[in-house]
Amino acid sequence: MDPGGSEQDPEMKEQYASVYVGREEDIKRSERITAVVHDREVVIFYHKGEFHAMDIRCYHSGGPLHLGEIEEFDGRACIVCPWHKYKITLETGEGLYQSIDPKDPSAKPMWCSKGIKQRIHTVTVDNGNIYVTLSNEPFKCDSDYYATGIFKVIPSSF
Ligand code: FES
Repeated sequence: MDPGGSEQDPEMKEQYASVYVGREEDIKRSERITAVVHDREVVIFYHKGEFHAMDIRCYHSGGPLHLGEIEEFDGRACIVCPWHKYKITLETGEGLYQSIDPKDPSAKPMWCSKGIKQRIHTVTVDNGNIYVTLSNEPFKCDSDYYATGIFKVIPSSF
């Protein structure tokens, strides 16, 4: 696989090479695993027939997303961070919140998006094996803060 293209420098190319993280049947059974992909900790969820990978530590304050529950909000599957209950969509990494029109307090709260807050990585299934390719989307994602530097190590207890 060469998600970064063949013209990248070799170090960059290496960082975005896909990494084997486990057997498809095992991850389907456990419904989640943690893995280290090129020195970055990620969690891979299996939910309703699809695999999703994201940075393991919550963008808000570094909470352990691999220990959260998956729930649906506004029809979107989210991991709920066990620390302060932030909701993050599995598919896109958006932070969801509820808002209400202050001029109309009787209105029903609406689900809104803060935009992409948690970096999502690519999961590939090949011949019963699962691979993760790190995102190289060139935007600053809030979860990058906890995926690098002194914060990046989290004891895996799942
Ligand atoms: Fe995840 Fe605060 S650390 S909600």
